[in-house]
Amino acid sequence: MNETALEQLCRLYTDLTDSDIQVLKETAKTLPLYAELSGHYMFIDCMMKSSGQAVVVAEALPRTPEAAYKESVVGKIVFETFEPGVHYSHRTGKKSIRHRAITQEGKMVEQSVVPIRNDQHEVIGTLITEAEIAGAAGSFAKAAERPNISFGSEALGHLLADTVDDYPIVTDLLMEIFLVTDADQRLVYANPAGVRFIHEMNEAEDIQNKPILTLLPFLTELLEHQEEVFISEVSVASKTLEVKKVKMHSKTNELKGILFIIQDLTELRTKEKELLMKSVVIKEIHHRVKNNLQTVASLLRLQMRKGFPAESRSHFEDTLNRIFSISSVYEMILANEHADEDDVDLIELTRKIGSTMVLNDLNQKVDLIIESNGNKILTSSRKAVSIALIVNELIQNSLKHAFPGELSGTIQVDFFSHKKFAELHIRDNGVGMAGAAFSLGLEIVHNLVVNDLAGEFSYKNVESGTHAAITFPLSPEVVIHYEKTDSDR
Ligand SMILES: Nc1ncnc2c1ncn2[C@@H]1O[C@H](COP(=O)(O)OP(=O)(O)OP(=O)(O)O)[C@@H](O)[C@H]1O
Ligand SMILES: [Mg+2]
Repeated sequence: MNETALEQLCRLYTDLTDSDIQVLKETAKTLPLYAELSGHYMFIDCMMKSSGQAVVVAEALPRTPEAAYKESVVGKIVFETFEPGVHYSHRTGKKSIRHRAITQEGKMVEQSVVPIRNDQHEVIGTLITEAEIAGAAGSFAKAAERPNISFGSEALGHLLADTVDDYPIVTDLLMEIFLVTDADQRLVYANPAGVRFIHEMNEAEDIQNKPILTLLPFLTELLEHQEEVFISEVSVASKTLEVKKVKMHSKTNELKGILFIIQDLTELRTKEKELLMKSVVIKEIHHRVKNNLQTVASLLRLQMRKGFPAESRSHFEDTLNRIFSISSVYEMILANEHADEDDVDLIELTRKIGSTMVLNDLNQKVDLIIESNGNKILTSSRKAVSIALIVNELIQNSLKHAFPGELSGTIQVDFFSHKKFAELHIRDNGVGMAGAAFSLGLEIVHNLVVNDLAGEFSYKNVESGTHAAITFPLSPEVVIHYEKTDSDR
């Protein structure tokens, strides 16, 4: 067992730590013994840090007269398409017993895979045993035990072989491009998608039996790879293609031909790029809006320091609070883990706005309680700006008017979510409104609720204090994120 190769490969391709590598080395030492005992091929694979594929870092082969592997596969890439069990075990930490795989040498084998874990119980690699398939027909019945793989290929083979003519109906129906060459790399079969593709790439009229490299020169590099099975992404004539190559052999191990399966990823990659660009641009815009709001706030503060009539002070403060509540929305979006998500959690937003106001020295005598019926209400940034302003005005009102002099009390904010609408209640147990008329603050609230949220607003005196109630409908821009089952749903 080559321990140096294992270590070098782990350092080159993986993120594994020294102690992880040590665990793998210990496991690798036992491989030859078990290979001999079981008569199976044994391997250790690790996930590569960049490509999402796995790499073989250790192997042990039983001494049998007819070796399934002609060469060492240490350092070779393990593609998910060909060895799904390995990737399944890496991802889920579960074992994957006796399922089909295609080896690096293009052979069909039966694989069993168990994850190898470190002291922290993290999956650091997989231990694989492989046996060549004997008498495989009918074994698809066990497929239910193996959730991660395709099954029934023998049955499909029989079914297709027994049809009236051996017309390859399945490949004809597929969107993917299927091309088969003979041993001399001449095209002997192309499904309709393949024929269309070749005509698109090449002017040649007659394509049958033409050398595949004449028709599709971009396959040169792929053919130069000696691997029996290989997958690569290539860019050609403004297209992005994923090309799978599988060499096909006869029972006597003679090369019969090569199968190419080509998938056009152009649209997918373009969409990915667009999305990425869009989210970068949106994030940049949010940054600028936030920075501009901060500049406006700084200018106002500067003006306040320059001196002004005492009665203007509260107007400046009101305006500063309004600006602050809008910029809170942008701060929350920018703190979102997913840059492209435009969701704002209203309860979190209210906490952010409310806590800074109450923390303000002047308002220490007031308690602010913010509650919900357990579910999150998420809105677009546009709606969140309206809610931020509404919450700001109503909490400000309670702070400013409800508790004059030394009076102390509580402001309670509640969010309720229902099937079709959401409710926001802001109550205080202060002196009440005593028939005061709406001024700018309550006008703003009323307009935002009616015009922006398409909702209803009521503001009234209650037994002790005031009660503001807002209801607004759910929509694609206002959604409930259910955290628990509740009778309200
Ligand atoms: N929670 C409350 N408790 C007692 N009185 C209130 C409360 N909320 C509002 N009021 C009364 O209603 C009036 C109108 O409120 P509104 O928010 O429209 O204007 P404002 O707070 O005076 O000024 P601004 O336009 O800066 O908000 C207030 O002046 C106040 O007298
Ligand atoms: Mg007000």
